Amino acid sequence: MKKIAVITSGGDAPGMNACIRAIVNTAWQHDIEVIGFRHGFRGIAENLAQPLHPDDMRLVSQRGGTFLKSSRFPEFREVAVAQQAAGVLNEHDISALIVIGGDGSFRGAVHLQNHWHGQVIGIPGTIDNDLAGTDVTIGFATAVDTAMDAIDKVRETAEAMARVFLIEVMGRHAGFIGLHAAIAGAAEGMLLPELEPQPKLADIADNILRARAAFPDSSYIVVVAENLWPGGVHELGNNLSKATGVTCHPCPLGHIQRGGRPNAQDRILAMQLGAAAVSAIMEGKRTIMIGLEQEHVVEVPLAATFARDKPLDPRLVELQHGLQGVNFASKNGAKTA
Ligand code: F6P
Repeated sequence: MKKIAVITSGGDAPGMNACIRAIVNTAWQHDIEVIGFRHGFRGIAENLAQPLHPDDMRLVSQRGGTFLKSSRFPEFREVAVAQQAAGVLNEHDISALIVIGGDGSFRGAVHLQNHWHGQVIGIPGTIDNDLAGTDVTIGFATAVDTAMDAIDKVRETAEAMARVFLIEVMGRHAGFIGLHAAIAGAAEGMLLPELEPQPKLADIADNILRARAAFPDSSYIVVVAENLWPGGVHELGNNLSKATGVTCHPCPLGHIQRGGRPNAQDRILAMQLGAAAVSAIMEGKRTIMIGLEQEHVVEVPLAATFARDKPLDPRLVELQHGLQGVNFASKNGAKTA
């Protein structure tokens, strides 16, 4: 009987468990045995093996996080560690490894492929959605829902107290969560790494003052991508408060964006990609990522997924810029910003 392995690696993402379920159940339908290694690449190197059986998959897909556990494991860049992992995979007689993770994990997967003869297949699992070659990654849609819920809640208190809030969202160095959350949360502003030119502090302050002048009794929310403003939203809040004379409240959402039950979109995506990864293994494919483009499952060379930056959809950027401008329109029709 053929035997394959699966790991979840790097930042966990809602939907990873649903993906494991699809892999295990699809594999068993084809008489392929599956084992997991706990804690990602570290678990392979340390031989933290866990047999996976369809019986154990019945109640996992609705849970966030990853029951297989994950880790960040920079030591895997060392050749000796990758070779050690290859040895462990061989000891278990594994012929293929599925890596569910983001760009750092895929770099690790390519590195392993250079030191191991088996098939390495990637499945995009990261809330950041920053992998080229796939329109969406597992966990992104749920993270956007979570950020939107949080913005809605902040909006209620901000509106009641007529306050300005700077809401920091995750994304590492990409603005996908920020853009989608800003649109869904009807934010008055967004600061994302991809925007050119980057607005200056004086421009942001000016917009806040204009909005306050037009709507002194209303809330004002700016979605800010993490790692963009030196010192984060706390520092930005201090600087803007000084520049405007209006208290600008920082509100970093942090890791709540990584947790929670995966939404339907993420579960369905995860199961589609998990099943397709097993099919790709049976067809002898190697060193590819299984992604989704225009609602079709696609296979992309693994290295191509992190070789270039994935751009934001310019139509969505334009949409948000247009809509946030109208938030400053006064009732007599004149635009104030
Ligand atoms: O890659 C997912 C992510 O949540 C990023 O958005 C964020 O920058 C990073 O992981 C945080 O990583 P950690 O939980 O290791 O601090």
